[in-house]
Amino acid sequence: MERTFLAIKPDGVQRGLVGEIIGRFEAKGFKLVGMKLMTASRELAEQHYDVHKEKPFFAGLVNFITSGPVVAMVWEGEGVVASARKIIGATNPLNAEPATIRGDFAVNVGRNLIHGSDAVETARAEISLWFKEEELSAWTPCLTPWIV
Ligand code: TYD
Repeated sequence: MERTFLAIKPDGVQRGLVGEIIGRFEAKGFKLVGMKLMTASRELAEQHYDVHKEKPFFAGLVNFITSGPVVAMVWEGEGVVASARKIIGATNPLNAEPATIRGDFAVNVGRNLIHGSDAVETARAEISLWFKEEELSAWTPCLTPWIV
């Protein structure tokens, strides 16, 4: 089953939006298979954003992403990589549609609340960069309703 890597950035944690953001992926029907609150090292952040290392915003991006805890997550489901990108919205929140996370809660491109892998291959690389295999849980949803 397809998996993606999502991370609620330090602004999302500090603004108290963790529950709101996670709730959107749960409500959509995706399955949470890994999650941890952690402050990324510079080395991890630089590797994660390696594709942007020549960009003018790279240093600021690494400073921001390492400035406090992030919620690193792995989600699973059919088409989850592309679907999560839709739920997240455009990179610049000013271009993000309402009802997306960035469209509803963010204003600034440098403070856009959440990261989501942009392709299945990128997702694979990001999951192995952020998580050890034993930190991921393969679980089957219980078919009996919990509340009756
Ligand atoms: P990018 O991978 O293009 O976007 P996304 O997060 O939607 O996959 O860029 C990575 C992050 O870099 C982006 O979330 C915010 C930051 N960024 C800037 O600070 N300024 C910019 O002009 C761009 C394009 C990105």
